[in-house]
Amino acid sequence: MRQQIAAANWKMNLTFDQAGNLLDEILKAPNQLQPHQKVVLAVPFPYLQFAQNKISGKVNFFTAGQNCYTKSRGAFTGETSAEMLHSIGIGYVVLGHSERREYFGESNAMLEEKVSMALTYGLTPVFCCGEPLSVREAGTQNAYVEQQLKESLFGFSEEQIQKIVIAYEPIWAIGTGKTATAAQAQEMHAHIRSVLAGQYGKAVADEIPVLYGGSVKGSNAKEIFSQPDVDGGLVGGASLIAADFIQIIDALK
Ligand code: 13P
Repeated sequence: MRQQIAAANWKMNLTFDQAGNLLDEILKAPNQLQPHQKVVLAVPFPYLQFAQNKISGKVNFFTAGQNCYTKSRGAFTGETSAEMLHSIGIGYVVLGHSERREYFGESNAMLEEKVSMALTYGLTPVFCCGEPLSVREAGTQNAYVEQQLKESLFGFSEEQIQKIVIAYEPIWAIGTGKTATAAQAQEMHAHIRSVLAGQYGKAVADEIPVLYGGSVKGSNAKEIFSQPDVDGGLVGGASLIAADFIQIIDALK
């Protein structure tokens, strides 16, 4: 059965005390998660070990790095490797977020290397893709996202691709309060799945979770997640508000 995931991307937010309070609130809330439903918390690097300790014993909860480097180790001041994340028990890593692509110049080719590193060290990459507003307005979003997938992911084997989670995040919907409609999300998610099926076959494509990101809130999560090809969300702003994120976890279908 395909995994469903409510993923929090805290980005560069919260002090240590605020992080602890938010984690406590989320973890104390009762949930009805089934074995195929997961909560993934992409917290800032300084809080990863702390968050990892907090979730210990919570079977459906995982932590994630928000990035990792293209190399395992060495003289790369300020970078963090997939090997390091793995060594403290982190299960996931968000890669290719549009903010990393835009502000830190991450290319599709570089992201292929990062995904490779994550897979080498047993981390599940949450690979982000999505088009800017200009591309959406030109109506060429399907080709744009297809190219991101091809250039970063299609070098991987059938066995490897099944270990990847994809997050579709239209850039025009990130932090803008302007979410894609459920129909727009479904249309792109179906496209992503058909692109994956073209390369790896339908059976493989049907097992790859595709999350939606972009102004997901407690109030709209249920409608978006109810779409057949939407397997949960990657949530920024609303993941910083306990009540909102708990509602988003509960919206997993
Ligand atoms: P918002 O939920 O704040 O729009 O951010 C989405 C996002 O970028 C998650 O990675």
